[in-house]
Amino acid sequence: ANYTGPLRPQVHYSPPTGFMNDPNGMFYLNGVFHLYYQYNPTGLGAGNQHWGHATSKDGYTWGNQPIALFPPEEKQYVFSGSVVVDANNTSGFFPNQTNGVVAVFTLARYNEDGSGGPQTQAIAYSHDEGYTFQYYDRNPVINSTSSQFRDPKVIRYEDHWAMVVAYSQEFVVGIFTSTDLKQWTWASNFTNHGLLGAQYECPNIVKMPVRDRDSGAVVDEKYVITLSAQPGAPLGGSITQYFIGDFNGTHFSTLDAATRLTDFAKDNYAAQFFYGVEGNPISIGWASNWQYAQQVPTGNNEGWRSAMTLPRASYLTKAAPRIGWTMVDEIYDTAPILGESLATKTMGNGSVTVDYADVASNALYIEANVTGIDVAKATAFSTLNLTFTSPASGESLRSGFYFGGDNPFFVDRGQLRGFDNVFFTDKFSVADVYYDSSADKTASWRVQAVIDRSMYEVFLDGGRHAGTVLLYPTQPLTMVNVAARDLPAGARVSVAVWSLKSTWA
Ligand code: FRU
Repeated sequence: ANYTGPLRPQVHYSPPTGFMNDPNGMFYLNGVFHLYYQYNPTGLGAGNQHWGHATSKDGYTWGNQPIALFPPEEKQYVFSGSVVVDANNTSGFFPNQTNGVVAVFTLARYNEDGSGGPQTQAIAYSHDEGYTFQYYDRNPVINSTSSQFRDPKVIRYEDHWAMVVAYSQEFVVGIFTSTDLKQWTWASNFTNHGLLGAQYECPNIVKMPVRDRDSGAVVDEKYVITLSAQPGAPLGGSITQYFIGDFNGTHFSTLDAATRLTDFAKDNYAAQFFYGVEGNPISIGWASNWQYAQQVPTGNNEGWRSAMTLPRASYLTKAAPRIGWTMVDEIYDTAPILGESLATKTMGNGSVTVDYADVASNALYIEANVTGIDVAKATAFSTLNLTFTSPASGESLRSGFYFGGDNPFFVDRGQLRGFDNVFFTDKFSVADVYYDSSADKTASWRVQAVIDRSMYEVFLDGGRHAGTVLLYPTQPLTMVNVAARDLPAGARVSVAVWSLKSTWA
C-alpha cells in the first residue's frame, strides 16, 4: 500500500485503499492491539461492508492484515460490532485454549430494490487470536425483522456477558445478557437520552476510573455509555455523546441529566473501547463525519477515504464530572511517534514560529502550558493561538483559546481551499466550536495538539475537552505559529514543538 500521498496521515491509521468507517471489534491481547473497521474494499463510499483488520503493538504503528470478515451471503453485509476474549470457553468454541476470540456484530440484509432488510446480531469465532474467523453455524444469535437494529458492543460483567445494541430509530439502547455468547436475554432499555438525531448508532458501555482532578488519584469508578447519533449534531452531521452512571449488570442509571459530547469538533464518530485493557480504558474513533465522509478529496486524489483518531486513554473527574481524554501514555507512551524537538520557549506574551518544511512526515506534536493566569483579569482579547500556514498557497488553519468570555476554543478551517466540491466546502468551512468551559477557568491551562497532514487533534485541560478536525490544504501546511496575546501580567507560557516520525515509513 502507498502511504505517501500529501493528505495521508502518518501517525493515524487509514486503510490501504477504499472506504473505511466505524472502528469495530477492538481488543488487546498478548501485547497486540487489534483494530477492525467497517470497510468497503471496492469503493470510495459506504457499501459492500466487510471487517478490515489492522494490528499494532504501540497503538500508533499499524500493520495491515487480511480482511477478517466477508459478507456471508449476497446482499448481506457485515456491519459494526465488537470482540471479546472468551478466556474461560463460555461459548464452547475453545475447548483447548484460553485465547479464544468471539466477534459479535450486525448482519444487514438488503432487498433486491436496494432498500434495507432485517438487521440481526450474529457471531463468529477465531482460534488464532483474531486473524481468521468462522461464522457460527446457527446465526443469528438475536433475530429481528427490524431494518434498524444494530451495532452490538459486549463487555464482561462479573459472571455474565452484557451487550448494548441500538434500536436506532426508536432511540433505544437495548441491554441484553448471556452466559455463552449464543443465547441472549433482553434485560432492560436505556431510552431517549441526549441528542437523538435521526438515529442512535454504535453504543458502548465501559467501566472507568474516577480520579481526583488535582492529585489524579483514583477515588471511585463509574460506568459510561457512549452513544453516536446522526444526522443532527450541533455543528451538523454526526456526533458522539456520553452519559455517566452506574451499571449493575442489567440496568444503567445516569448520574445526572447532562448530555456530554466526546468532542467539541465535528470529526469523531462511533468511537469504541478496546476489550481487555485494564486501568484507564482506551478508545479509537472514526475521524470523520457522515455529512461529508464520502466526498473528502483523499478519495479522488489518493484512492482512500477516512482515518481513525489517535488512541485515547480516558478517566472521569470527580469534580465537574467529565471524561478526560489523554494521549495514551500508560501502557505505552508517545515515544514511538515523537521525533526531534524543534523549539522550546518559555515566555509571557509573545510567540514562537517554526518552519517545518523539512520534517519528512509533515506531522507535529505541540504542547503549551500556561500557568499563573489571573482569571478575573483575563479579557476577551486574552488568547493563545495556534496557526498553521502554507507559504506556498497562503492557506491556513487557525485555532485558539480565549481565556475570557464564554466561547473558549475555535478552529477555523475556512481558510483552506483543498476542494472544489461546493456541497463539501459549504459543510466543511464551519469556523467556530464552542463548549462550556466554566469549570475549567483555572490558573493553569494546557493544550496538546497533533497535526498530521489532513488531521488536527487537540486536547485541552488534560483532555476534558478534545477535538478532532479534518483539513485538506491544496499545499502542505509547513509553518506553525504559537502566540500568546493580552494575557494578564504574571502568566507564563511554555511551548514545545516536536516533529513526529512517520509510522508508515
Ligand atoms: C455508523 C453505522 C453503523 C453501521 C455501520 C455500517 O457509522 O451506520 O450504525 O453498523 O455504520 O457501515
